[in-house]
Amino acid sequence: MNFLLNGQNATLASIKLGLLLLTDFEKTKLKPRRFVLLIIILLSIVIHGIGQNLLSNGGFENDFSNWTNLANDGAVATYSIVANAAEGAKAMRLKIDQLGSNGYSIQNFHNKWPAEVGQLYKIEFFAKSQSNAGGLRLVQTTGSYKATSFSLTENWEKYQITYVARGTQEDFKLQFFKKNTYFIDGISITPLNLGEVVIPPSGNSSLKDLAGNCGVNMANLGDRTTETEFESILRNDFNMVGSENSLKMKLVKPQENSAYQFANPDRMVAYAQNQGMKVRGHTIIWHNGMPDWVNNKNWTKQGLLNYLKGYIDDVVGRYKGQIDEWDVANEFVENDGSSLRKGSQSVWMRHIGPEVLDSAFKWVHEADPDAKLYYNDYGAEGMNSKSDFIYNLVKGMQDRGIPIHGVGMQCHFKYDQLLTEEVTLAKDIDKNIKRLGALGLEVAFTEIDIAIPKPVSQEKYQLQAITYGNLLKIALNNTPVFKSFMIWGITDKYTWIRTHSSGNDDDPLLYTADYQKKPAYDQMVAVLKANCIDNVEIKEPFLGTPILIPGTIQAENYDKGGQGVSYSDADPENKGGAYRADGVDVSAGPGVNNHTVGWSASGEWLEYTVRVKTTGAYTFDFFTAAANLVGQVEVLLDGQVLIATTDLPVTNNWGAYESTRSDKVDLTKGEHLIRIKVLSPGYNIDKVVVNEAVITSSDSFKEEKERLTVFPNPSNTGEFRLSSSVEWELYSIDGLLLGRGNGACVKSKSGLTLLHAKGNVFRLITE
Ligand code: G3I
Repeated sequence: MNFLLNGQNATLASIKLGLLLLTDFEKTKLKPRRFVLLIIILLSIVIHGIGQNLLSNGGFENDFSNWTNLANDGAVATYSIVANAAEGAKAMRLKIDQLGSNGYSIQNFHNKWPAEVGQLYKIEFFAKSQSNAGGLRLVQTTGSYKATSFSLTENWEKYQITYVARGTQEDFKLQFFKKNTYFIDGISITPLNLGEVVIPPSGNSSLKDLAGNCGVNMANLGDRTTETEFESILRNDFNMVGSENSLKMKLVKPQENSAYQFANPDRMVAYAQNQGMKVRGHTIIWHNGMPDWVNNKNWTKQGLLNYLKGYIDDVVGRYKGQIDEWDVANEFVENDGSSLRKGSQSVWMRHIGPEVLDSAFKWVHEADPDAKLYYNDYGAEGMNSKSDFIYNLVKGMQDRGIPIHGVGMQCHFKYDQLLTEEVTLAKDIDKNIKRLGALGLEVAFTEIDIAIPKPVSQEKYQLQAITYGNLLKIALNNTPVFKSFMIWGITDKYTWIRTHSSGNDDDPLLYTADYQKKPAYDQMVAVLKANCIDNVEIKEPFLGTPILIPGTIQAENYDKGGQGVSYSDADPENKGGAYRADGVDVSAGPGVNNHTVGWSASGEWLEYTVRVKTTGAYTFDFFTAAANLVGQVEVLLDGQVLIATTDLPVTNNWGAYESTRSDKVDLTKGEHLIRIKVLSPGYNIDKVVVNEAVITSSDSFKEEKERLTVFPNPSNTGEFRLSSSVEWELYSIDGLLLGRGNGACVKSKSGLTLLHAKGNVFRLITE
């Protein structure tokens, strides 16, 4: 496959795309060498010139030359060249009086164009129809068959798809499958060169922290938390989990007489709570994922309604207050958007009919009034007859007073579907989100994966990355209507695409099967950095001056840069009553010194700029209160773990503070960034007192540097015995060498001294 610049003419859109990327990369602080490379690429695009249309007579300026009318099965239509043009002077007009005689025969109109196998092309055209919703399908044949449908309006609009050529003589075909009058103009096919796109490495980033700045949840599947690599990525990058299968009725209630199977969902919900993550519940009513006994039972309408009500009470009720969003109904609409799914496919439609939707939403709401309730479906992301049907369906429910809060767009896409921000699908998803938002609904992307037809390759990974990035841009452009970006898995090792796509497609996720980051991950970070860091203030110390160490870090004196820059707040809503200032939960009491940071959730952190007066070993005393949970804290110094997981006590009262001392850690003189991170919630934190380490009789030190520094407690002056023979030097606190030796015993000369010891592990014993 060849996506490189190869002497072919490049397109204006390539230049525009390059410039767009350039803007993004600038914001992501691309290294100068990369900039130079990018500039060279852009220049070569310009030098190679503006794209040449490979389709002859796409503008219909004079006649229909090169075009053939393939009307079949008795379709009756009139073609003419008219002055009503979108571009140039003329356009093609087609009036269809009669469609072909059988269901699939339609009015066809085609032309050929020369292609290079494996090259990526951009196909664009203008179209409108005399009355709204004229149906047009664009089909590429010869090497393969790829059809894309468009729903036209009464106004000229530009439509775009991208396409990888499979043959050298491609057949471009327009198919018209609704009786209407159509106008077509400016059809162009030009190569699109994305092969040199530079995707900056993501470094140590966190998708959820970056997306949090934009108010978007990063969600993923939470049922494999027992696999270490899976779990650590989940914890680092995502703040919301959902289950792939374990909350489907087939798994929750496999037999009529079986007990509910809650072990897996229970585990996921408990994990989410420990991590302070949100939860999506998937799904209550669906035609698929159903136990055989429900599908096969000879239900009366009332009997099935009764069963459903009981199921909802038991399942939704069990997780009341613990599941934030429920996909109440999944995939209820026929693919062509003509109606709700037929009763032959769905037990709900067969025995109950459309009213099952209203009932289910009502009952789920009764069982958990705080949960957001979603209708979820696939193939209805953009503007088409299926999404039109869904729009009317949810609007109808709202009109009837049914509690519905959002629409889930599954987003099972292919790697080449969103290669530019101008492709019709991208613009249509945007439009669709906006019209649902105008109804007061939320939107989430609920099952994102972006599959690659085999064989997979690095080039296809690059294109997949562009598609992931462009999908994310649509999400970020639509906040606050857009809420959650849920990817249907983490690693290509576990994806339904491998098992369900007849072996044709693969590798749809952000990590390879052996947990290597793919370009798609890096591109997501680049897009988030470009879009979600701009709005925050420039970071500066909260007090305008760094906190001196040794000294006290008052919890509320965190740096005030903003969400994701100097603090991260897992819950943007104020859940803590009086708690709330500057985006994290700061209270004017009941803590010591009148301020505490409270209601902390897993993954939240606060950063402090500190100035360490002297290099040495220090301890951190955490002053915390927790009514009923053992909390955990971690401290990072300049991005590296300084104090690993430390348990914090239950103090039985949110206002009763106790201190917990950390192990000794080394700090070097100068300015540093300290991050206090909540590993396990929830506790209130009043302050952290950082002191020079005090040597006790059982201290042991592992020397990792050439020299280890400790501060003996002034009261512990005297003789110190080392457990084994080590080289030692004794300094005054000002760094004056007081003595040196090689042995197992050293004498401190005065109250404040520094001990520098060389050697292996040793033990310092006070006498
Ligand atoms: O775990 C069993 C295994 O023990 C058994 O040997 C094997 C034999 O078939 O089946 C395994 O279970 C499969 C399960 O996935 C776990 O891999 C089921 O057969 C299979 O039907 C199930 O497929 C799931 C599918 O929904 C149907 O429920 C996929 O994992 C899941 O990704 C997929 O997700 C759906 C969404 O819920 C709705 N939207 C579309 C999406 C993709 O199809």
